[in-house]
Amino acid sequence: MMEVTREKSMENRPNWTSRYAFILATIGSAVGLGNIWRFPYIMGQHGGAVFLITYLILITTICFIPLLAELSIGKITQKECIGAYESINPRFKYLGMMNPVACILVAAFYFVVGGWIINYIYLGCTDFEANNYATYFSSFTQNSIPTCILTIIFLFTCIFFTARGIKKGVEVANNIMMPLLAVILIGLVIYSLNLPNAGVGLAYMFKPDFSKINGEMFLCALGQALFTLSIGMGTILTYGSYIKDDKNIAKSAYSIIFFDTMFALMAGIMIFPAIFSFGLEPNSGAGLVFVTLPHIFAQMTGGNFVSVAFFTLLLFAALTSGISILEVPVASLTERLKISRLKASALVFLIVAIIALPATLSFGLLKDISIFNKTIFDLLDYLTANIMMPLNALVICLLAGYGLKLKGHMFMQNKTLATLFNVGLRIIIPIVLVGVLLIGLQ
Ligand code: PHE
Repeated sequence: MMEVTREKSMENRPNWTSRYAFILATIGSAVGLGNIWRFPYIMGQHGGAVFLITYLILITTICFIPLLAELSIGKITQKECIGAYESINPRFKYLGMMNPVACILVAAFYFVVGGWIINYIYLGCTDFEANNYATYFSSFTQNSIPTCILTIIFLFTCIFFTARGIKKGVEVANNIMMPLLAVILIGLVIYSLNLPNAGVGLAYMFKPDFSKINGEMFLCALGQALFTLSIGMGTILTYGSYIKDDKNIAKSAYSIIFFDTMFALMAGIMIFPAIFSFGLEPNSGAGLVFVTLPHIFAQMTGGNFVSVAFFTLLLFAALTSGISILEVPVASLTERLKISRLKASALVFLIVAIIALPATLSFGLLKDISIFNKTIFDLLDYLTANIMMPLNALVICLLAGYGLKLKGHMFMQNKTLATLFNVGLRIIIPIVLVGVLLIGLQ
């Protein structure tokens, strides 16, 4: 394997307290809006069970390889993204910059949704009469001042933890929020399964209708699997670079996939029985969580309580992911410019705010501004999820396969699996990712 130099100045980089802390924080990064907001609605749009089966196959096989590759690059180089790419091949330094840039762009739209969640927690606590949530949602998202303030509050909360550092900030946030998130989710799943007609929702999730299989569904499942595992944006690489010793990172990678998938499945088991129990449609798209669910909560006994619990769950999931998204540019600025973490965090706060505010306003004041036929919010989503993430995942596979010369036998004893890993990393996944990119560019 290629020798990677470790500079003296890097010796005082932060490290995780334990392997557990690393796995918990990485699960925190993976489990986010992608699991609880995006996964159920995309599954709803693509026929339920067939989507689920495709997704499960992809996430446990194909996605394992880039996840392990990204983790290994971080762990071996012990550098933030730009330095990591540079130390494998100096010509790749500039491509390394794609990571912090992508994170800043993702943050700018992800945090808008974070702001909406805060509003919905408040809404559940105060006025919760059954009203028309579709109208409410569109008028709320158009309301410039509250939405901008909420986006900034969300951004500030994330940067607060990132600025405090890995042990005192990132670990503390995950240690508190992740167990709470799990408890609330389990509570809501039990509640939902006890609703009348819950079985219909479960059948929708687990009884496949194979006529619904098609190419678009396959791509959406792959895109969703990459997004939910936070692959291709440098978060996994950066978190991986703080590992001191983890003898078995393949096992850690599988734990991350396992828990991320469990959270997504539980989110589905919580949402679909409720939808069918109240006679609603599962394919309402992005509004599923902000329109369909509040409508259901309003009709439930104890709906206020359930609503607050649900949106708090969503908030924790979004915060732990948001913190990991900001860690990438903060780590890059700190280590490249040799400035303090606090200064780097202040700079990232400013840059994200400058992009996130127009993204927030693109539902109201700036809704007529369209770039490539997309609003600012949609453009950021499209650029990052459809182009930057698959492109960067491709670069990661090539760097790990041909630069670092990662081999399957370093992680697994079974020879067939090791060979599959080698072929997957060097040939199959890069081809699949080029395909995803070409389709994403259309
Ligand atoms: N994985 C997160 C989610 O499911 C989103 C994310 C993407 C976080 C990329 C970090 C990096 O919501």
